Amino acid sequence: MSVRSILSRALLITALPTFAFAGSVNPDDVVFKDDVVAVSLTGTAGDPAKGREIFANRKLGNCLACHINADLNEQLFHGEVGPPLDGVADRWEEPELRAIMINSKVVFGDETIMPSFYRLKNGVRTAEKFQGKTILTAEQVEDVIAYLRTLKE
Ligand code: HEC
Repeated sequence: MSVRSILSRALLITALPTFAFAGSVNPDDVVFKDDVVAVSLTGTAGDPAKGREIFANRKLGNCLACHINADLNEQLFHGEVGPPLDGVADRWEEPELRAIMINSKVVFGDETIMPSFYRLKNGVRTAEKFQGKTILTAEQVEDVIAYLRTLKE
């Protein structure tokens, strides 16, 4: 191996951490068209079973802090700040749900208290640990969307 290729490999390795969103659409490059996001962030469909766990996990989606969801009745506390998500798949199409998850402000307006889960700038109330990061990864967002699509009346 030439010195040159060893050097370029070393450079590649040091450059890697800046590609944290490799393989997925970078949060700043998400394309909103007519306030929806048609294309999967990962290029593949999400896993609804994983999405259900992320939804209930207080360190990840923490959706139950604000939303009632009868499918998760085994969890004790459901907040009521947002609308119940029972039957949400009948009200919103997948590209709309993706837009809500990525940047709730685009759909509900700047005043909404629903977090934007795939955005680098998430307002002044963003917890320090999320600054410069998204709350969920692209894969987790797609998993939650796949789960929401199962919530039919
Ligand atoms: C801090 C509270 C809060 C959290 C946490 C939250 N949401 Fe929301 N969400 C809201 C509010 C409030 C609305 C209603 C929109 C508005 O008026 O601002 C909403 C609306 C929605 C809607 C549209 C519902 C409908 O039927 O119109 C969906 C879908 C949704 N949220 C999904 C989620 C998911 C999935 C999570 C977790 C990944 C989540 N939300 C976390 C507050 C929250």
